[in-house]
Amino acid sequence: MSTSVTSQFSAHDHAMMARAIMLAKRGQYTTRPNPNVGCVIANDAGEIVGEGWHIRAGGPHAEVHALRQASDRARGATAYVTLEPCSHYGRTPPCAKALIDNGLRRVVVAMTDPNPQVAGRGLKLLQDAGVEVAHGLMEAEARALNPGFLSRMERARPFVSVKVGASLDGKTALSSGESKWITGPEARRDVQRLRAKSCALITGIDTVLLDDPSLNVRHGELGSLGNTLSAAELIQPIRVVLDSQRRMSADAKLFGIAGPILLVSAEPYDAHFLHSLPDFVTCLTLPGGDGRIDLVALLSHLGENCNRVLVEAGGTLAGAFIAAGLCDELVLYQAPKLLGSHGRDMLQLPDYQTMAELPGLKLIDERKLGQDWRFTFTVA
Ligand SMILES: NC(=O)c1ccc[n+]([C@@H]2O[C@H](COP(=O)([O-])OP(=O)(O)OC[C@H]3O[C@@H](n4cnc5c(N)ncnc54)[C@H](OP(=O)(O)O)[C@@H]3O)[C@@H](O)[C@H]2O)c1
Repeated sequence: MSTSVTSQFSAHDHAMMARAIMLAKRGQYTTRPNPNVGCVIANDAGEIVGEGWHIRAGGPHAEVHALRQASDRARGATAYVTLEPCSHYGRTPPCAKALIDNGLRRVVVAMTDPNPQVAGRGLKLLQDAGVEVAHGLMEAEARALNPGFLSRMERARPFVSVKVGASLDGKTALSSGESKWITGPEARRDVQRLRAKSCALITGIDTVLLDDPSLNVRHGELGSLGNTLSAAELIQPIRVVLDSQRRMSADAKLFGIAGPILLVSAEPYDAHFLHSLPDFVTCLTLPGGDGRIDLVALLSHLGENCNRVLVEAGGTLAGAFIAAGLCDELVLYQAPKLLGSHGRDMLQLPDYQTMAELPGLKLIDERKLGQDWRFTFTVA
């Protein structure tokens, strides 16, 4: 297999792959559990003759859209694909075969597909058919398209984002439990977009009992994203409630809104409660050693189908994810408010004794949203 390094790619190759990456991003709200993939086909004169991106799981892959647009002009051309073309028959036929059948001369791939059903086989199929293959162009940017899919394939668990809305003094609620609203409308619209990207939203039972949230994606609150994504295209995330002691109420607002809900407890709910629930609710028992929910087992369960999950809980559960080393990204919305020293801490964390024990945070993005700020950190 060819192992081209980035320096061997031309400026034109870079420009074409950058366009394929931009196209891939258009699927970020709709392709799950599939990855976001973009494809550009360019002829020898450097002109783009076809392009496409994967729109929805079960629908055509990016390469197929690009090949359809290119038609006969694909013969002898170069295809730039952000992820290795598939080699297996899934819901659609293999894209590597489609590229061969359409007479592509060269295929440039940003990254190999860690999906065990592909894992280099797509590149080999192309190479065995005499197609010139190069990979590794803009690999870091291509990986950044799919943190959730890659996490599921490489670690058998989803990519976990913990979202916190806090005051300047690091509080998420008053001592009374009141927390509506710490942040303003722009930050709350941004949270809606985070939800729309997530396969599941995880919350703690105390947030449900105190706030009675809906935890759904509301098309009218997506801001400008609502202009490009129709309400019908929205995929509602699974709402997951961690309720070790089975304190959940059948009257919770969550149950009044149709859409998948997963209730996780340490012991099974009683039959009477189960009968009172709508049919879109499923239950799971995952007891941990401390009488609460086993978070590792939960992520392993969700990893079967979920690329990204968003933890939207109070300080207890949000802190538990970070303390257990299960948080990949912390998204902090901070408001110019002071809730005072009796307010609830945004994260309940262990009593660290040395600086070396602290979770390793790295700021990767910061922006202003109305009166608030959004800070995004990776968590090591
Ligand atoms: N500002 C924000 O971003 C934001 C977001 C959400 C909520 N809130 C606020 O947060 C407050 C509630 O926060 P909270 O900290 O009391 O509750 P929470 O984090 O929402 O829920 C905590 C509960 O989750 C259950 N749980 C199950 N498994 C767990 C595990 N492995 N680790 C930790 N907890 C587990 C526990 O109850 P059991 O043992 O009984 O199961 C625990 O008491 C509310 O006032 C709400 O308004 C703020």
